[in-house]
Amino acid sequence: MAWTRKHLLDLEELSAAEIVEILDTAASFKEVSGRSVKKVPALRGRVVVNLFFESSTRTSNSFALSAQRLSADTLSFTSSGSSVSKGETLIDTAKNIEAMGVDAFVIRHSAPGAPHLLARHTGCSVINAGDGCHEHPTQGLLDIFTIREHFKREKSEPEKALKGLTVSILGDIRHSRVARSNAHGLRKLGARVILAGPPTLVPAAIGQALGVEVSHDIDYVLKESDVFNCLRIQFERKAGRFFPGVREYAAIYGLNEERMKKAKPEAIIMHPGPINRGIEITPELADGTRSVILHQVENGMAVRMAVLYLCVGANN
Ligand code: CP
Repeated sequence: MAWTRKHLLDLEELSAAEIVEILDTAASFKEVSGRSVKKVPALRGRVVVNLFFESSTRTSNSFALSAQRLSADTLSFTSSGSSVSKGETLIDTAKNIEAMGVDAFVIRHSAPGAPHLLARHTGCSVINAGDGCHEHPTQGLLDIFTIREHFKREKSEPEKALKGLTVSILGDIRHSRVARSNAHGLRKLGARVILAGPPTLVPAAIGQALGVEVSHDIDYVLKESDVFNCLRIQFERKAGRFFPGVREYAAIYGLNEERMKKAKPEAIIMHPGPINRGIEITPELADGTRSVILHQVENGMAVRMAVLYLCVGANN
């Protein structure tokens, strides 16, 4: 199919075919990252602005490098030290930067819907790099890319691309934009999705809203899953109020080597990062043979190149 979107705001609005088009485009860009000269001219003359109002290591650097590998000019804006501290609004900030002649905003913001607001109020392409507890579409896409690649599902029909695979997303689902993007994308590609963790962090209503299963029984989840995507407990969003203490959380819901003996031998472990080592996952598992965590980061480059290429370069 021919890509027509100027923005990537969430995975909820994408069709299975659109998700697969991004994944297939990313597969072709992955080869570029393996070259000694890691650069193609696809976005030469375009300007991509990283507009980050929340902290980031992976997403901000991955987007900046991806844009540079496509030969775009890049600008990195962080709210600290900017005129936001003098009371300037998000829209005024964006419109002023747009007036400098830029083509795309990659935005991370604590407010759900902030990217959608920029898409309405500016003429630039807008890519959501995480908006509050709503969505983190490129993280969802790179997770799905990693699963599809690992289980060699590249050639399937879009709606059946991940059929037969069970993906469990474990941990702080309540506060997780990563869980929401994964659930939307995985379900559209035919995977079975289980949201798992303590009832306080995985309320049944979230599963109902996303159309996926919920389980609070870790032994059941261990038996069923081909993929464990462990999520960080978001202490900065006060997630620590939802369970008695980190030691109890690790003992009852954390992934460790003993617990993983009950899992399928071929099951893999993912984590979007940053990791609370020893809480949602032990260091041994995070660095162990089942872990594909650094492959996720590597694949994030190809996925973000694909998203920038399609939204900023291909038709716009
Ligand atoms: N996975 C992720 O979004 O990491 P950062 O917060 O470091 O960007």
